[in-house]
Amino acid sequence: MIRLATIGTSGITERFADAVAGVDGIRIDVAYSRDAARARAFADRLGIAGATTDLAALLRSGEIDAVYVGSPNGAHAAQVRDAIDAGIHVFVEKPATPTAGEFADLVGAARDRGVVVFEGMRNVYDPGMAQVAALLPRIGRVRLVSFGQSQYSARYDLVLAGETPNIFDPALAGGALFDLGVYPLSAVVHLFGTPASVAGSTVTVATGADGAGAALLTYPEFVAQVSFSKIGFSHRPNEIQGELGTIEIDEITRPREIALSLRDGTRTAEHVDGAENNMVYEVARFADLIRGDDPTPDQERSLAVLRAVEAIHRKDA
Ligand SMILES: NC(=O)c1ccc[n+]([C@@H]2O[C@H](COP(=O)([O-])OP(=O)(O)OC[C@H]3O[C@@H](n4cnc5c(N)ncnc54)[C@H](OP(=O)(O)O)[C@@H]3O)[C@@H](O)[C@H]2O)c1
Repeated sequence: MIRLATIGTSGITERFADAVAGVDGIRIDVAYSRDAARARAFADRLGIAGATTDLAALLRSGEIDAVYVGSPNGAHAAQVRDAIDAGIHVFVEKPATPTAGEFADLVGAARDRGVVVFEGMRNVYDPGMAQVAALLPRIGRVRLVSFGQSQYSARYDLVLAGETPNIFDPALAGGALFDLGVYPLSAVVHLFGTPASVAGSTVTVATGADGAGAALLTYPEFVAQVSFSKIGFSHRPNEIQGELGTIEIDEITRPREIALSLRDGTRTAEHVDGAENNMVYEVARFADLIRGDDPTPDQERSLAVLRAVEAIHRKDA
């Protein structure tokens, strides 16, 4: 049994706990919070036995094998490093770290310590994404990709009211690119590999974080366009255009409705039966990695995406 502890007490950690309950061989034993009452309340609400505010002691207690890092992006690196140094496996929420260099250092440290560091990127482990990959040969040579994730954030209302919520705080690596842009970027890199070059631009909101943006990933035979926003919304489908046909995907974070249109006029649409909470698939992958699967491809994808994120931010500087 893999014994987990959680870091963070927001909704995403609850959702993670719900996913863990659906995977065999892994369970949450301890909830950590910076606040004792919050730790206890969170643990009680989710039926977790232990609660603590002492992360350093927890990591060295011998009571856990792995930790889930669900803190704001800017807090990830230090917590992940502490866990690795203590010989604990790590599932860190997307984006793992603000820069590729930081994640590369953590990957090296984890390898030296004999533990797994894994970035949770739920869409690439979803069976819907596997179905998209299976359809690719049907559309011939890929020429144009257009993926996006635009979701209006209620926390933008706080920005408009003059506040700086974590998710729009540049000091905590907030912003739309880190929060949502990484989903379409990860899907592109997962399906097609590392791009030859990346260019992009973003729109800055009052806190100094980006609220929306777009990027172009260039490959030898095609280009992929990626868009993201937390200050607007979109119901536009995602598309992969090939010389023989086009694949349409409803949601890049959770592909469920997938349509294939061929140049000969035929169109087929399918519904993918998948879990409503698709974190279950990334939790299952994490458990497999702890049991001995090679984490290198997962880590390489994360690194390529973080390098793309950096290229987009650099363009803005
Ligand atoms: N996979 C997904 O679908 C998904 C969805 C949403 C978010 N996420 C990811 O989950 C992570 C958390 O996002 P969120 O919006 O839930 O963040 P958040 O609400 O700002 O913070 C999450 C938790 O971290 C702790 N925390 C807050 N501020 C902190 C700080 N300055 N330093 C250290 N800890 C702090 C808090 O727990 P305590 O106060 O109890 O310690 C809080 O409950 C991010 O990496 C985000 O990208 C993933």
